[in-house]
Amino acid sequence: MLGPVILAASRSDQMRRFVSAAPGTKQVVSRFIAGETVDQVVPIVKDAAAKGLEVTLDVVGEDITTREQSYAARDAYLDLIAHLEDLGLGERAEMSVKLSMFGQALEGGHELALANVRPVVEAAAAIGTTVTLDAEDHTTLDSMFAIHEELRKDFPQTGCVIQAYLFRTEDDARRLAAAGSRVRIVKGAYKEPSSVAYQDKAEIDKAYVRITKILMEGDGYPMIGSHDPRLIAISQELARRAGRKLDEYEFQMLYGIRSEEHVRLAAEGHRMRVYTAYGTDWYGYFMRRLAEKPANLLFFGRSVITK
Ligand code: FDA
Repeated sequence: MLGPVILAASRSDQMRRFVSAAPGTKQVVSRFIAGETVDQVVPIVKDAAAKGLEVTLDVVGEDITTREQSYAARDAYLDLIAHLEDLGLGERAEMSVKLSMFGQALEGGHELALANVRPVVEAAAAIGTTVTLDAEDHTTLDSMFAIHEELRKDFPQTGCVIQAYLFRTEDDARRLAAAGSRVRIVKGAYKEPSSVAYQDKAEIDKAYVRITKILMEGDGYPMIGSHDPRLIAISQELARRAGRKLDEYEFQMLYGIRSEEHVRLAAEGHRMRVYTAYGTDWYGYFMRRLAEKPANLLFFGRSVITK
């Protein structure tokens, strides 16, 4: 029951101020956010590569309010790409972006987000890597999929995310499971109404399996984004039944969550990509991580009280 309350709080400016200023917050945030600056995240990328892991890097930030902020978001990704080029990691380090951070919700936002994300995708391609468009709340998805389709005309390797909790997603998966596509399937992390999304955990898990089956049986490249041991085992079995080799799909997990599992799956020969978020505007990302596991809230509460 706590999850939806925390997700509602993730939209509140008052809560944002309270949480950001609370003593002890930084310590808990650092479990999920790899650093504040690109220089802090570079050693983490190197360490992941040394362990045989891949990464997808996310500069945190969303729900911006000015066009200037959207340009700053674009520039932050361009700066990240310049650092990745120096590291020479190529495809081992790709990027994840939220179009809301690129201005999608502002006036003329669809065009603005496309104009901001295109140079990032271009620069990523120039150093041999790529970008995946994260899925945000359901009202943003038609625009996200249209931008994804547009970008794929020139950069077919551009990925996107689909969310198992939405009723629409099986159709989206069928459309996207075509040759050359890269699709990350996740359960879904936003507060969605019952008119568009399953609310029951078991229903979401069943949908996740149906959608993963569509992706595995299709011609694209499925990216399994989950920490759920049951869904990971089922995905492995679906891949096997679809005749996929280990390099024809990948697993993805979030930085700071089930880290031992990242290494275990990589050691089994799977491609394992760790979604590594960094930056200063971490509030929305952090609150979604709290909502996913309300026990995190206890840990957070304790660290605030004991500071
Ligand atoms: P579930 O929530 O059932 O968790 C399974 C187990 O994992 C838990 O029992 C616990 O042990 C551990 N766990 C999960 N979350 C935890 C947490 N926050 N803290 C501590 N332990 C935790 N969503 C979205 O809407 N749009 C997106 O673009 C993305 N992108 C994305 C990328 C990647 C790589 C991942 C892994 C996830 C996302 N998500 C996302 C988030 C996703 O929708 C979902 O909220 C989380 O992955 C949690 O769901 P699980 O599948 O892990 O299962």
